[in-house]
Amino acid sequence: MSKGSTPQRADFVVVANRLPVDLERLEDGTERWKHSPGGLVTALEPFLRARRGAWVGWPGVADTEVEPFTDEDMHLHPVPLSSAEFRDYYEGFSNATLWPLYHDVVVPPVFDRSWWDAYQRVNRRFAEAAARVSAEGATVWVQDYQLQLVPAMLRELRPDLRIGFFLHIPFPPVELFMQLPWRTEIVRGLLGADLVGFHRPGGAQNFLWLARRLAGFEPSRGQVGVRSRPGVVQVGDRTVRVGAFPISIASAELDRLARSKEVQQRAREIRRELGEPRRIMLGVDRLDYTKGIDVRLHAMHELLADGHIKAEDVAMIQIATPSRERVEHYKQMREDIEREVGRINGEFGRVGHPAVHYLHTSVDRKDLVAFYCAADVMVVTPVRDGMNLVCKEYVACRHDLGGALVLSEFAGAAAELTSAFLVNPHNLDGVKDALLAALDIDEAEGRRRMRALRRQVLTHDVDRWARSFLEALGTPHAE
Ligand code: ADP
Ligand code: F6P
Repeated sequence: MSKGSTPQRADFVVVANRLPVDLERLEDGTERWKHSPGGLVTALEPFLRARRGAWVGWPGVADTEVEPFTDEDMHLHPVPLSSAEFRDYYEGFSNATLWPLYHDVVVPPVFDRSWWDAYQRVNRRFAEAAARVSAEGATVWVQDYQLQLVPAMLRELRPDLRIGFFLHIPFPPVELFMQLPWRTEIVRGLLGADLVGFHRPGGAQNFLWLARRLAGFEPSRGQVGVRSRPGVVQVGDRTVRVGAFPISIASAELDRLARSKEVQQRAREIRRELGEPRRIMLGVDRLDYTKGIDVRLHAMHELLADGHIKAEDVAMIQIATPSRERVEHYKQMREDIEREVGRINGEFGRVGHPAVHYLHTSVDRKDLVAFYCAADVMVVTPVRDGMNLVCKEYVACRHDLGGALVLSEFAGAAAELTSAFLVNPHNLDGVKDALLAALDIDEAEGRRRMRALRRQVLTHDVDRWARSFLEALGTPHAE
């Protein structure tokens, strides 16, 4: 990363909890920037870079002030967080209240008033930073659940701006959202935007209902479509649009990378290193309890125990990026998953040949693509996921029409990737059947399915997602 001069005010600004790069402090006291984890950055970074926009976000380390800087074509504006704010706003309200609440209450959300105070305070700081950075009449695109109060706060500070908001995680059913003690404040915060975007029409529909029930507005009543027919809420003299914009990936770029000699060679090497098993199953996720990593491990365990598969025949690789490691449910889940991996390997592995290869790490892009190319079956089994980009990445990498995708019905992507083996992650027998079917798929059938999946992923890429959102927002930056 090269640091350039202090950036000017910008016409196009992204505001997200994290910058696209995280500051890392090494043990020897030196610092370096590394790529931030998660789908949001994967999706937005290439788009913003191409438009030479500005990005307002936290640099990834608490109690640190970093001056604004330029990274090639992108202007980065760090927003500091103290350790107490990191604990209360990020780990607390964002990831122990909103995250579980918005993911179907997979674990019980914690409602803590001091966390709410921190959430408001930090949202205000992000809004003030965005107000400083934005040029007159600029377009500001606020991202995700950590910053739901920013649209209204920013509008108060800068009524001249065009403000969009996109939620990268599911928006919950209204019965669950209504549990939140600060539900009205959140709905009012979002209504500060000109356009509020969700992955699926259902999320938009839920939000419209809440705008009536909690904020007393009269939203439109028609069905919201995908990238079409947004709902409308009249807020005083402003018209707020509410729509569905399923996010995607830079498909063509991944397709290109997957075709490269280097990646293909690395994919063959991976198979060799695993001892040339007949089949390779792969999971790639942030280590998060919503991702259903336990589901696929239990399925694998039972398939081995039933004798349906043999460890020397089928290797499973699980690559899990460390995530939110101090939050209680994440600690617990990591222990459970690592115990289960140990149990499977203890029962079914041999010296030098574990049944599950578990890597608690983030791998670089080329390596990741090589893993996708090497995998016969990609296993994506979240109990709830806003979209899930991993499954789309896998498909984009399979120009050979090889491989099969097992995908949870509870991932937003399932509505688009209907030629995958769709499973209910709560039904273990169903998951096992789908894994067996995918492992033994007939070649012609596999090619037919993969061709259909690729048609969807290659024609609906991240550029199309961002353009459709920005067009609906009515900004020139859609071009
Ligand atoms: P989320 O945003 O919840 O993390 P997504 O599936 O939408 O989930 O996006 C995850 C992104 O992070 C993808 O681009 C994926 O390639 C990347 N990723 C996930 N796990 C790893 C890993 N272990 N190493 C490298 N990249 C990873
Ligand atoms: O989209 C889900 C998301 O929470 C993003 O907002 C975030 O950038 C990413 O996953 C990674 O999570 P975190 O920033 O908490 O490490």
